[in-house]
Amino acid sequence: MYRTHTCGELRISDVNKTVTLSGWVDASRAFGPMTFVDLRDRYGITQVVFENNEDLNKQAMALGREFVVKVEGTVRERMAKNPNRATGDIEIVATELTVLNVSKTPPFTIKDETDGGDDIRMKYRYLDLRRGAVQKNLFFRSQVAIETRKYLAGQNFIEVETPNLIKSTPEGARDFVVPSRMNAGQFYALPQSPQTFKQLLMVSGFDKYFQIVKCFRDEDLRADRQPEFTQIDCEMSFVTQEDILNTFEGLTKHLFKTCLNIDLPDFPRMTYDEAMSLYGSDKPDVRFGMPFVELTDVAKGKGFPVFDGAELVVAINTERVASQYSNKTINELTEWVKRPQIGAKGLAYVKFEEDGSIKSPLSKFFTEEDFKTWADKCGAKKGDIIFILSGEAEKTRKQLSELRLELGNRLGLRNPSVFKPLWVVDFPLLEWDDDTQRFYAMHHPFTSPKRDQIASMLNGDHETMKNLRADAYDLVLNGVEIGGGSIRIYDRDLQSKNFKLLGMAEEEAESKFGFLLGAFEFGAPPHGGIAFGFDRLCAVMSGSNSIRDFIAFPKNNQGRDVMIDAPSFIEDSQLAELNIDVTVEKV
Ligand code: AMO
Repeated sequence: MYRTHTCGELRISDVNKTVTLSGWVDASRAFGPMTFVDLRDRYGITQVVFENNEDLNKQAMALGREFVVKVEGTVRERMAKNPNRATGDIEIVATELTVLNVSKTPPFTIKDETDGGDDIRMKYRYLDLRRGAVQKNLFFRSQVAIETRKYLAGQNFIEVETPNLIKSTPEGARDFVVPSRMNAGQFYALPQSPQTFKQLLMVSGFDKYFQIVKCFRDEDLRADRQPEFTQIDCEMSFVTQEDILNTFEGLTKHLFKTCLNIDLPDFPRMTYDEAMSLYGSDKPDVRFGMPFVELTDVAKGKGFPVFDGAELVVAINTERVASQYSNKTINELTEWVKRPQIGAKGLAYVKFEEDGSIKSPLSKFFTEEDFKTWADKCGAKKGDIIFILSGEAEKTRKQLSELRLELGNRLGLRNPSVFKPLWVVDFPLLEWDDDTQRFYAMHHPFTSPKRDQIASMLNGDHETMKNLRADAYDLVLNGVEIGGGSIRIYDRDLQSKNFKLLGMAEEEAESKFGFLLGAFEFGAPPHGGIAFGFDRLCAVMSGSNSIRDFIAFPKNNQGRDVMIDAPSFIEDSQLAELNIDVTVEKV
């Protein structure tokens, strides 16, 4: 028998029991004739003492870090208790020690606060995963998955697996492709999401579907993006947008209650247009205020060339920072917005000092009356600073949105243990791109315009198309897009029209999506759905902004798995079998 108990289990009530534990040597230290060993497993750490037995003591002294051992002994109350450990009241007095396996010295310490850098921990991810702090994230993820299944099963959802070797389903990213050996020159695509399959399941009559499913997108990576990630993917029939929002608000509340013991209040809703004009973002962080205030009409025409030439002049008020933000700090912020990632040309500000004086580099162009008008508009009081950006409307809003988040960070207004979810609704159906001179689907090509806009979509001109609104919605939590979905088109002609608007010729639409268009001719019910980014949900719920910490074996920023060294070259013979002629030099 390897163990009678785990390393996290024994308490004072177990004193005098004879027990067997197995685990890893976390640490060992000699103390006079005694040796203390901390034995660790998934459940915790238990102290083992080797004393009064010279042979055993010798064996214990020879143990290295991360050796796998089995210890038999008696539970004893500790003299010096460790209140920071669940097992801290007791220790095991060892009577027998078996080394089950030896270990090389690990390349970094297996502790919550490890000395290993990112790269080395990724290379030895199986050791990184021994650390309690990392294990905790995966246990949490597992709990969220289990509670998701419980909730959705309780609502009559059926979990169905959809294929991974499919034909491309565009969701705005590039596809990962897989060559087919049996069909020379042809490729499968890995799904960017199960979008078309879940819609087909609605045509089949499954009514309520979900799947916790891997999705694959070949896109640039960031802290909240991985090339393969997981969705809680859902679809429902005979529903309106309202039904979907309610169901998935319910799921989110259930997950917060069961996994964090937090009762979330009802989620506020904001239209896309409101979100853009108030926060310059379709995923606003509403844990703090600082809404945008447009000053265009009062700031233009006063002789300040920068504002006069701008499409938009927009401000945010930052409360109670006037005395705290020196010129140096403001210069720093100015440099910050001028970085290429943000791209602003400069940063204007008006400082309303506590003593009633007003300071601004713009005072050559504007009077105190002007500044007071701005203050009224922004709700600025003595002690506040308003920051102002100007330029082309869309760009300026994005830049100010970044500044708002940065100020929020600097002022500690983005507390990761405060949760402020909201629904952003009424997204535009289409997005016009000047460079390619065509429309793109804002969500994806299967999204339905609002019912009362279908006629405009069928007959409207270019401007009408730009203004079409969709039954499309995102769940936003603390400034992160956690999920997105829409009510779908279920009419063949409307779907064809949408493909056409998206620049797809009829033959192309037929060859790419003939199966879906065909299915719509056999009694497709009205339907809609949503997908949550599961990794993101787990990260945000845990107050982290890196999804990697919640994925057992993540890829790095170059899309590489440095542990298994993938992607990698393959044998010429394998390539030949796949009918692939590769001329890239292997290095
Ligand atoms: P969408 O493309 O919005 O919708 O994706 C849904 C959610 O998936 C998460 N997500 C990602 N997470 C990690 N890494 C990535 N690379 C990544 N890309 C997306 C986000 C996002 O909100 N088929 C539709 C859903 C639907 O309409 O029902 C879809 O995939 O949290």
